Amino acid sequence: MESGQWTIEKRSSFRNDSFARDNENVPETGCLSIIVLGASGDLAKKKTFPALFNLYRQGFLQSNEVHIFGYARTKISDDELRNRIRGYLINDKTATKGQSDEVSDFLQLIKYVSGSYDAEEGFQLLDKEISEHELSKNSLEGSSRRLFYLALPPSVYPSVCRMIKQCCMNKSDLGGWTRIVVEKPFGKDLDSAEQLSAQIGELFDEPQIYRIDHYLGKELVQNMLVLRFANRFFLPLWNRDNIDNVQIVFREDFGTEGRGGYFDEYGIIRDIIQNHLLQVLCLVGMEKPISLKPEHIRDEKVKVLQSVLPISDDEVVLGQYDGYRDDPTVPDHSNTPTFATVVLRIHNERWEGVPFILKAGKALNSRKAEIRVQFKDVPGDIFKCKKQGRNEFVIRLQPSEAIYMKLTVKQPGLEMSTVQSELDLSYGQRYQGVTIPEAYERLILDTIRGDQQHFVRRDELKAAWEIFTPLLHKIDNGEMKPLPYQPGSRGPAEADELLARAGYVQT
Ligand code: NDP
Ligand code: BG6
Repeated sequence: MESGQWTIEKRSSFRNDSFARDNENVPETGCLSIIVLGASGDLAKKKTFPALFNLYRQGFLQSNEVHIFGYARTKISDDELRNRIRGYLINDKTATKGQSDEVSDFLQLIKYVSGSYDAEEGFQLLDKEISEHELSKNSLEGSSRRLFYLALPPSVYPSVCRMIKQCCMNKSDLGGWTRIVVEKPFGKDLDSAEQLSAQIGELFDEPQIYRIDHYLGKELVQNMLVLRFANRFFLPLWNRDNIDNVQIVFREDFGTEGRGGYFDEYGIIRDIIQNHLLQVLCLVGMEKPISLKPEHIRDEKVKVLQSVLPISDDEVVLGQYDGYRDDPTVPDHSNTPTFATVVLRIHNERWEGVPFILKAGKALNSRKAEIRVQFKDVPGDIFKCKKQGRNEFVIRLQPSEAIYMKLTVKQPGLEMSTVQSELDLSYGQRYQGVTIPEAYERLILDTIRGDQQHFVRRDELKAAWEIFTPLLHKIDNGEMKPLPYQPGSRGPAEADELLARAGYVQT
């Protein structure tokens, strides 16, 4: 075996901790082919290739074992694809020679194959290229690993999966694997998602399918389990006796520019709430898993989702920002919400009566994603001199990752008065010099390692669609209409009223 073939194993051993042991991540070696389908597209350019580059830079992908294939219908040469990617990875005018060389070395790993998504010819050609790469790396000594990343519209997932199955599976007798990574949106409602799951499920086993939700790759989302279950502090407090309400919020300060066509078909609930925010809700609400094994964690997430009660219409506020319909790709009478606040209620012993308020919006006044856990008032308040603030535990997922606790302290000075203050763990200050990895980087590495902990299981997806499908159908049928709001605002005022009705108190 060539030196360097052990790179991923070596790196994995850095995770010589309970995570690695409990996941039984046996590191694998051997020739690795990463195939990005839809390589000409937006996601590939903005997220997939940059994530692969970062993994390469950090030594997780070694040139003597890895090759990257781009596949799409567009007819371009290897060099054209490399130039496009280069433009995204580096500014040639300001880059140092070292950076430029590093990018050039990475780009040499990339080859492009053009073909359609529903005919064998292109996939046979792709298979030939992958096999040549495997032979050139002498992979028979080990095993060959094939990772197919579908950076494609979901409409072509079934035919692409069929083609992969027919033409491109790993052929090594000595082990190895074939895995596929699929992007959201995975379906449009319960029926379409189940149909898609069934079509892909006929071709691949669940352990081969990685349904990506990039929020699960964010540092502070991954921190949720640690915070909740590694701190004695929270154990007795994390329940309906102490917590008044939970907010999970996503705001963007830009609209749907450039993606209006896609967005109008899906809307903010399918784009953000049904997946990203609901996944966060699972981690906030779930019971402690038996272990950190992916199946144990996902079992608990499914239970939370299955305990969510049907959404009540009067606990929903929808909005659409003024100007959204000016986009030429958006129909003039579009009913698609670009903003939604939805209250979910979990019917179990821990959470009965605690509203989980999920809020997401485009073209708002700021860009932020956070979890706000608000505690109940202190009973028998003796500090009447000033209205007592509530305790609030806030996890800011982005930007500027931070965890802070709002609490009441004595106002410093001679008077006995109270003031709201914070215990603040801002990552920028506390972990200076530490680079927080991009979500996609982490998740792609997980797919190579075979760790499905941060990916959505089929039953989880089904339970998530079950929660939102009735509401989505009402919106699709025009039975519920979005309220207008000004771009750059907080969204419709009715959303703040709903928040107050749900019990949230501004601290
Ligand atoms: P694109 O629209 O850029 O499509 C990707 C590639 O797919 C295109 O370059 C094109 O390649 C091919 N393609 C496009 N439309 C069709 C079609 N109707 N039939 C067959 N092939 C088509 O998509 P994105 O890259 O933006 O997204 C890919 C996936 O990732 C989607 O599922 C999307 O929802 C998801 N996603 C995207 C994000 C983003 O920021 N862009 C964020 C999160 C998820 P060619 O014509 O060369 O074959
Ligand atoms: C994507 C949505 O899944 O997430 C986009 O399709 C959204 O509409 C994006 O802009 C937000 O991701 P992040 O990581 O920037 O919060």
